[in-house]
Amino acid sequence: MSDTTTTTSTPGAVQTTGHAWDGDLQEFNNPLPRWWLWSFYATVVFAVFYWFAYPAWPFGKTWTKGFTTATYTEGGQSHTMRWNTRSALLEDLDSGSDAKRQRQYLDKIAQTDYAAIAKDPQMVAFVNQAGKRLFETNCSACHGRGGQGVVGLFPNLVDDDWLWGGSYQAIETTLKHGRNGYMPAFGSVLNATQIDDVANYVLSLSGVVPSSEASVRGQKIFTGATGGCYMCHGDDGKGIKSMGAANLTDKIWTIANVPAAQSPADKLAAVRAVIGSGVQNVRKMPAWGERLSAAEIKLMAVYVHQLGGGQ
Ligand code: HEC
Ligand code: HEC
Repeated sequence: MSDTTTTTSTPGAVQTTGHAWDGDLQEFNNPLPRWWLWSFYATVVFAVFYWFAYPAWPFGKTWTKGFTTATYTEGGQSHTMRWNTRSALLEDLDSGSDAKRQRQYLDKIAQTDYAAIAKDPQMVAFVNQAGKRLFETNCSACHGRGGQGVVGLFPNLVDDDWLWGGSYQAIETTLKHGRNGYMPAFGSVLNATQIDDVANYVLSLSGVVPSSEASVRGQKIFTGATGGCYMCHGDDGKGIKSMGAANLTDKIWTIANVPAAQSPADKLAAVRAVIGSGVQNVRKMPAWGERLSAAEIKLMAVYVHQLGGGQ
């Protein structure tokens, strides 16, 4: 049984609620501290505010959307959306402090010429950081994460050998308009011996095979009307950049996988195969002029230039 009168206890003793059970079982009266109670009420008020401000309650097939909005620009147009994690992310990417800093740097790059960018350590640091990210998103699928390329398909961008030229301007043109090098197939123009001869000559240019009677015959084909190779690769085989034709005198190979071939016979076979079938639509550098802004292209030109030895 209980009775409901509050007992006033002697000063200093613990207050009880006055309830007593079983004769002497009492309940202490320990009220919550005031600060605690008020903080608790504040969280309740905050929760109610939050329900109205942000997406909160499921509601049939939808949910309460809240009155907070996020604003971002996409494709030059400003969009205002009800707040959600996606619109908040877009807003942050668009006008967050990182995005603002990035835009400032991009504007600066757009207005600065290449030589001056390369001399400014702060801009170079930005190019390296932003360039790496852009490269991973747009370029590494073909050129490899580090830009080392894939023999036979995608040129190595880390070395200082350039098909189309390694100056800032040449790289910018490559990026803006894309590249698609072309070499005719000689399989039906030259006979097997001629192809073998000219392949010997090509390999002798970089010292993979010693010069021989075959390579001397091959040279005539290369520099004469029969082969006409010189028109793209140059009389000396060093390549003509405006044609995107490889330098055949260095030990760098983009199409013929000579380094992977073990024996001289296999190396010859690799070169013969390229001469026989040419280089046509096997691969292509896409144009980025539409996909990246002018400033981003400039940034990427600086990035690629310093990846390999730019010229
Ligand atoms: C779809 C595959 C692909 C993608 C993606 C790609 N490239 Fe290329 N890239 C190529 C091919 C193929 C070539 C060689 C084209 C040729 O010589 O005909 C090339 C050539 C180049 C060259 C010229 C190299 C030289 O030796 O002159 C540069 C520079 C280059 N790419 C940079 C880039 C950058 C920077 C990106 C990203 C913005 C990129 N590429 C994205 C396939 C690609
Ligand atoms: C119309 C221009 C053109 C002509 C003519 C031409 N080539 Fe090419 N050649 C190219 C291009 C473009 C490539 C591709 C460049 C690259 O990515 O390595 C190439 C690539 C090659 C390669 C592979 C190089 C490598 O790094 O893997 C060899 C070998 C070669 N050519 C030999 C010849 C020979 C031999 C002839 C003459 C019988 C010849 N080319 C005629 C344009 C030409």
